[in-house]
Amino acid sequence: MTLNDRMTFPSTMYSSHCTHYSRMNQRTIEISHMIMDDIDEIVSIENSSFPSPWSRDVFMRELHIPVSRSLVAKKHKNQNKEVAAYLIYWIIAGEVQIHKIAVKKEVQNSGIATKLIGEMVRLSRQEGASVCTLEVGQSNEIAKKLYEKCGFVITEVRKGYYQESGDDALIMCADLKS
Ligand SMILES: CC(C)(COP(=O)(O)OP(=O)(O)OC[C@H]1O[C@@H](n2cnc3c(N)ncnc32)[C@H](O)[C@@H]1OP(=O)(O)O)[C@@H](O)C(=O)NCCC(=O)NCCS
Repeated sequence: MTLNDRMTFPSTMYSSHCTHYSRMNQRTIEISHMIMDDIDEIVSIENSSFPSPWSRDVFMRELHIPVSRSLVAKKHKNQNKEVAAYLIYWIIAGEVQIHKIAVKKEVQNSGIATKLIGEMVRLSRQEGASVCTLEVGQSNEIAKKLYEKCGFVITEVRKGYYQESGDDALIMCADLKS
């Protein structure tokens, strides 16, 4: 397998049927665009996921940044839906940059992040994006597995990038064209 083969995002891996509102798992998970009402639940997931979490204001701001896109995965619970995960990305000049992804601890390892990334790729292709990049800590083994599964490859290592932990940052990239 060549580097280019591995960088190509697997286009057959994901499918969905609706342009604006996507039902990825017919029974439990729905993916939609983030709205103001989602932010409290998102902040709660954020606080339990990251040592330096984004504040509520940062998420609010994302709603108003023209290049920003925010997807939320919601899980049905009785008659209600609760936020299970979110993904924030920007599209600039045909390049997607993933800025945040997190899944509620109770529902991790059930394919939700994979589905969110798949939907992001589908929507980004519709907007003409051709490449997606992200940054992940070298020690974040689960996130690395997620991204590798989704077709990303490491293109750069930034030594000691994270000052608090001393961890290296990996820049990963996926080709969305094919
Ligand atoms: C990283 C994260 C978003 C993954 O979300 P998720 O919904 O659990 O991921 P998925 O269920 O789609 O799993 C994708 C792959 O990750 C790996 N993975 C997920 N959970 C795992 C676990 N507990 N142990 C080992 N591998 C795991 C597997 O390879 C899996 O693919 P597979 O099921 O085909 O084997 C989630 O763990 C998370 O929110 N972590 C905290 C925040 C974070 O680190 N975000 C990324 C910052 S760069």
